Amino acid sequence: MPVDNPYTDDQNDQKAALEMDEIARTIFAPIYPVIAEQIKATHGITAGTCIDLGAGPCALSIALARMTDLRLFAVDKSPHSHAIAMGNVKEQGLENRITPVKADISNMPFEDNYADLMVSRGSVFFWEDLVSAFNEIYRVLKPGGKTHIGGGFGTVELKNAIFEKMAQKKDGFEERSKKRGGPENMKRIKTALDESLAGKYKMTQSDIGFWIHIKKELAS
Ligand SMILES: C[S@@+](CC[C@H](N)C(=O)[O-])C[C@H]1O[C@@H](n2cnc3c(N)ncnc32)[C@H](O)[C@@H]1O
Repeated sequence: MPVDNPYTDDQNDQKAALEMDEIARTIFAPIYPVIAEQIKATHGITAGTCIDLGAGPCALSIALARMTDLRLFAVDKSPHSHAIAMGNVKEQGLENRITPVKADISNMPFEDNYADLMVSRGSVFFWEDLVSAFNEIYRVLKPGGKTHIGGGFGTVELKNAIFEKMAQKKDGFEERSKKRGGPENMKRIKTALDESLAGKYKMTQSDIGFWIHIKKELAS
């Protein structure tokens, strides 16, 4: 089970969705273009289809749309996050580039071999059934496609500034973040990846976060 999960019932889900939108627009705002740039530099995929998994208010999708030619689908199972995402995409005038999709990552309405790139920030920690999520991601990924799934704050400087600002809220953000990126949770995620169909993957962990890179091999 995830170490903590605010998305358990409708009321908590709504509260979490509104809070995420608020911090994505303010304290977290600078990290999304930085992470989008890192995704672009790591994978070199700037056109085709990209799915943002657990997209919340769509800040990463919006940053990717601004700096690439990707056609994006922003998946989130929360009806509240989905409604917020629709509003944010419209507000940015990106309706023809980003489509918010209300779905669980373990059961997505996409054909096999659909996406060139699948990204996800700050969501994997909450996936209830990690093995079926990774199986589904692998199913939807195109041969030759890649993933950038995990959590992070872009740079050490941004991370430190965010932790400082979040500490003022006194809501246990730092403790929750440490647990999410802690060894027990990393082991849980790695075990699920090994049990899944994902096959070869790379998991990196550093000061700027942890990221899972799955590559679906081209059929030989
Ligand atoms: C902490 S928010 C991160 C939002 C966004 N990626 C960001 O970094 O701003 C996590 C999001 O993952 C979504 N989520 C959690 N489990 C999910 C699942 N199984 N399927 C789809 N979305 C999920 C939640 O509804 C929430 O919007």
